[in-house]
Amino acid sequence: MNFFELIQRRYSTRKYISTPVQEEVLSRILKAGCLAPTAANRQPFRIVVVHTKGNGELLKSMYKRDWFVEAPIILVVCAVVAEAWVRSYDGKNHADVDATIIADHLILAATEEGLGTCWIAAFDPAATRKALNIPQGIEPVICITLGHAADTAQLKKRKELKDLVVSEGF
Ligand SMILES: Cc1cc2nc3c(=O)[nH]c(=O)nc-3n(C[C@H](O)[C@H](O)[C@H](O)COP(=O)(O)O)c2cc1C
Repeated sequence: MNFFELIQRRYSTRKYISTPVQEEVLSRILKAGCLAPTAANRQPFRIVVVHTKGNGELLKSMYKRDWFVEAPIILVVCAVVAEAWVRSYDGKNHADVDATIIADHLILAATEEGLGTCWIAAFDPAATRKALNIPQGIEPVICITLGHAADTAQLKKRKELKDLVVSEGF
């Protein structure tokens, strides 16, 4: 599968079968996440691996959808804000940007492995912090469900290139 096939194949999977993800597959996906670039190579992130089996009720406090806990694994990409690079001109902290790139690497690697994923930003951060014992200074940025899909991709709805790409400035 080349890169363009890979990005076509990825879609938001919201239905999973309970078949576990093999440890070596998970390990390859996590390594792909850790190979992602980060600003100034600060690597200001942690990936929390959460197995849902037996923890469904607790984990549902994070995001109240049945399919969220049907996936055998949830990856929570967290930013270590104080470790992230900050742009001197305006003080913009890049922890979220870095965490998002990590998440994209994880998701595309999972797609390559034939697994389904879904980006989830609409989780409850306070409940997530509590459920996973996340300390102050570490921010959960994105949850990713990970498992074998029980649904199929829908046609991708995207705006046209001309509506999204601006040539030589606005
Ligand atoms: C940053 C981000 C946050 C998202 N958060 C959620 C979410 O909380 N719940 C959900 O069901 N889907 C979420 N999605 C999935 C988007 O709805 C989905 O990517 C988009 O509709 C395009 O569909 P596709 O992923 O199947 O191509 C999120 C996607 C991104 C990139």
